[in-house]
Amino acid sequence: MSEKIPYLDLPAQIRSVRKELDAAIARTLDHCSFCLGPDVVQFEKDFAKFCGAQHCVGFNSGTSALHIALMLLGVGPGDEVITTPFTFVATSWAISYVGAKPVYVDVEDGTMNLDPKLLERAITAKTKAVLPVHLYGQPFDIDPVLALCKKHKLPLVEDAAQAHAAKYKGRIVGTFGDISCFSFYPGKNLGASGEGGALVTNNAAFAARARSLREHGSTVRYYHDEVGFNYRMEGIQGAVLGVKLPHLQKWTNERRRVAHRYHELLRDTPLQLPREAAYAESACHLYVVRHPQRDQLKAHLDASGVGCALHYPVPLHLQKCYASLGHQPGDFPIAEKAARECLSLPIYPELTDAQIQRVVAVIKDFFRK
Ligand SMILES: Cc1ncc(COP(=O)(O)O)c(C=O)c1O
Repeated sequence: MSEKIPYLDLPAQIRSVRKELDAAIARTLDHCSFCLGPDVVQFEKDFAKFCGAQHCVGFNSGTSALHIALMLLGVGPGDEVITTPFTFVATSWAISYVGAKPVYVDVEDGTMNLDPKLLERAITAKTKAVLPVHLYGQPFDIDPVLALCKKHKLPLVEDAAQAHAAKYKGRIVGTFGDISCFSFYPGKNLGASGEGGALVTNNAAFAARARSLREHGSTVRYYHDEVGFNYRMEGIQGAVLGVKLPHLQKWTNERRRVAHRYHELLRDTPLQLPREAAYAESACHLYVVRHPQRDQLKAHLDASGVGCALHYPVPLHLQKCYASLGHQPGDFPIAEKAARECLSLPIYPELTDAQIQRVVAVIKDFFRK
């Protein structure tokens, strides 16, 4: 039996920085700064600089960062927020947490990102914000979305949970909108050793209120200015992220190498391959191919020891939790087709050329049968 290829090889990444991680975690243990603390403060400074933003506020998850972002924008009950139905559910959670209604706009077939051409017709008097996602690490087409936001005086929140270091027209994502939210879930391109997230913004008032909201609505201990949350980033996560951030660009380059290689080797197969838009430099968080016989192909890869995954098998408008929105199959046909056909192949900086060739050989074997 040939070597198994995991869908994600986090142990390989941890091994590559293990000594630095051990030292950073030991330092946190020594000074016992477990909730926020100096390593989180330093990471916030470094990550803001990396994104070209003035402020970064660390959270205990990307979901919390998105929740607070919508609070900062004053979104509340009765309001609508426009977003994509083809994303991880947490994008929509933020809208639900503030009591607003997610209004979905279908995606483009090529990028699977929110289709800017469909955006304007979804805007109503109740729309309070636009929240697209840089899906799989590829920026959505920001300029036409921003133009509509400006025209209708709507704030833009970038869900950049999958897109650390991605570029749009040569500029790193994170400061195109009013607020951008990142996830540091362990499997993300920049992952903590547990949960973590952040928002970045150039708005000092937003950053100050976000710091208060994440810490029980307080800036002075035991004085609470508004109802807040315990959404603090853990000190150990700040330390771990501080170790990993200097490696992020190199790791992103390696992910792009893997994606290019897949592209070369899979070009002559019946698969629909991910396409990098002319404006985009994807962070290649996921490499998602498409095919109508996705389930059979997945079974073949599983049986051959090649890990793969589905991002995402059910679009949000058809999830049980959002049944009350009253959507039907057919409402967002491009997202529904993508959900039926998508298959994520292994992609990580440590994936070797021999491993890539084996994944490709297994796929070609499927189509020969
Ligand atoms: C697009 C998207 N949005 C939001 C989130 C939520 O981030 P977290 O898991 O850190 O809460 C994730 C990550 O899982 C994501 O992929």
